[in-house]
Amino acid sequence: MKEMILKKFAEVFGDMEGVQTYFAPGRVNLIGEHTDYNAGHVFPCALTIGTYAAARKRNDKKLRFYSMNFENLGVMESSIENIKPEKEADWTNYPKGVMWAFMEKGYEIPCGMDLLLNGNIPNGSGLSSSASVEVLTGHILRDFFGFKDVTNVDLALIGQFSENQFNGVNCGIMDQFAIAMGKKDNAIFLDTADLSFEYAPIKLEGAKIVISCSNKKRGLGDSKYNERRTECETALAELQTEIDIKGLGELSEAQFEEHKAAIKDEVRVKRAKHAVYENQRTIKAVEALKANDIALFGQLMNASHVSLRDDYEVTGIELDTLVEEAWKVEGVIGSRMTGAGFGGCTVSIVKDKAIDSFIATVGPAYEKKIGYAADFYVVEIGEGPSNI
Ligand code: GLA
Repeated sequence: MKEMILKKFAEVFGDMEGVQTYFAPGRVNLIGEHTDYNAGHVFPCALTIGTYAAARKRNDKKLRFYSMNFENLGVMESSIENIKPEKEADWTNYPKGVMWAFMEKGYEIPCGMDLLLNGNIPNGSGLSSSASVEVLTGHILRDFFGFKDVTNVDLALIGQFSENQFNGVNCGIMDQFAIAMGKKDNAIFLDTADLSFEYAPIKLEGAKIVISCSNKKRGLGDSKYNERRTECETALAELQTEIDIKGLGELSEAQFEEHKAAIKDEVRVKRAKHAVYENQRTIKAVEALKANDIALFGQLMNASHVSLRDDYEVTGIELDTLVEEAWKVEGVIGSRMTGAGFGGCTVSIVKDKAIDSFIATVGPAYEKKIGYAADFYVVEIGEGPSNI
């Protein structure tokens, strides 16, 4: 990959002088969905697939961007001065947003850069290609301009800040945190209430993580995402008239049942119920994993999907079909949608010997029902951002 991006860099930007190469992973969340903006727990991991970059500083304030994933867009030019989001800027709004965020936080970016990207995360798959670009950009800026006080947790926070403020998606911290703090063969048990976390080794003896990509175009996803977030915030405000909590993640299932009548709308009760129960499921899932009870971990993944389907209503026929077909396959330990939902992909834990039959049955069943094919990836858990 390194040779390939260097070669392309020279082709696109004229020569290779002063170029450095970098990588940041994608992520998959094993359990704990739509809990990260509800002061709950998440359990994601970084992947060995991600975004590669070749970059160099310039002598002027110009920014030149090129993505091998969107070659039709060609070289996109801009400037480090007066950075603002622009629809025509397309994917470059992600790196630009991070540059803007650094400057908002008081860091000086003295010059522009030439930046070429090539990602092997399927676009729009829900494996966080945008957060990967954000953390990658932050890592490059830190490396270029010697921002030594910037930790990897800061890279995650700056990435999230840029996504919220520059790109208008009110996302939580999970994606950027999972990417910035990734550790080989470990998932990250993160409490989003205070960012305390622990690594948990994922030893799936005789099984692997399989991602099934629905290939559904997301479209309305972002606005629906913000809508769910508002529903949870309203439900929280209603509960706060009765109990002293800062986030839904503070509630046990029993406390929620006791106080749920304070929420004055049936739909909001369902949304809040998901947030509370999903958080508790995530805590239980990590305990199960530590006790080597992978079967229970799988059952909790399945329950997570049911809750996202029925109470949170963020799945849709594509993700439901992938998961429900997966559940039928012998050797599937657990399967659920992962990420924001409304499209994107599912994550399944599948016994090694069942992987072929998994793909051979879920694939055709999906295509028959949905009208187009899904893609399948057996993935591995990798490290956070690096110089390569
Ligand atoms: C997206 C967001 C995350 C998180 C998930 C749902 O991936 O970026 O912050 O909210 O959806 O769990």
